[in-house]
Amino acid sequence: MKVLFSNEEIEERIKEVGEEITKDYNNEEMKVVVVLKGAFMTAATLVKYIDNMNLEMEFTRVSSYLDKKESTGKVNVLVDIKEDLTGENILIVEDIIDSGNTLNFLKEEYLRRGAKSVKIMSLLDKPSRRKVDITPDYTGFVIEDKFVVGYGLDNNEKERNIPYVGYID
Ligand code: IMP
Ligand code: MG
Repeated sequence: MKVLFSNEEIEERIKEVGEEITKDYNNEEMKVVVVLKGAFMTAATLVKYIDNMNLEMEFTRVSSYLDKKESTGKVNVLVDIKEDLTGENILIVEDIIDSGNTLNFLKEEYLRRGAKSVKIMSLLDKPSRRKVDITPDYTGFVIEDKFVVGYGLDNNEKERNIPYVGYID
């Protein structure tokens, strides 16, 4: 396994992003929606650096339907947040944005439920793989088209516990 970003690099970068989010939300009410399972570690680190007394945590779990390892665009919600999001400021936290299907679906859905704002923080972004036009508001690192694991990201459900982001050479 090759190290792409060390634990120290990742946490330093997430801290910067957290400080930026702190400024942008300026103590406004916000709901951080963690996309399970992959985003659990990123979210745990991120919220420690968001200084906001009006922050709430929510968790959703989704899976995209895969067709030969490619996302088909359909998203299956396994664990949902509440239906009525009228007036809420939502910050979705993801591990990686690849085709963009997952985040595009969640963003549209939360806006449909009445959210006042929906922003996205993704630890990693693979823009070369995008199928739908969506850009995270906050990104940890932009990466090339490599299959990466660790810091929450899995290889067939394993390796989420690796403290760095790595790839098989
Ligand atoms: P999207 O809907 O195609 O943007 O897919 C995003 C989801 O695909 C992520 O939440 C991951 O679960 C998964 N994924 C995409 N690329 C990778 C990778 O390199 N390693 C591990 N999981 C990945
Ligand atoms: Mg995922």
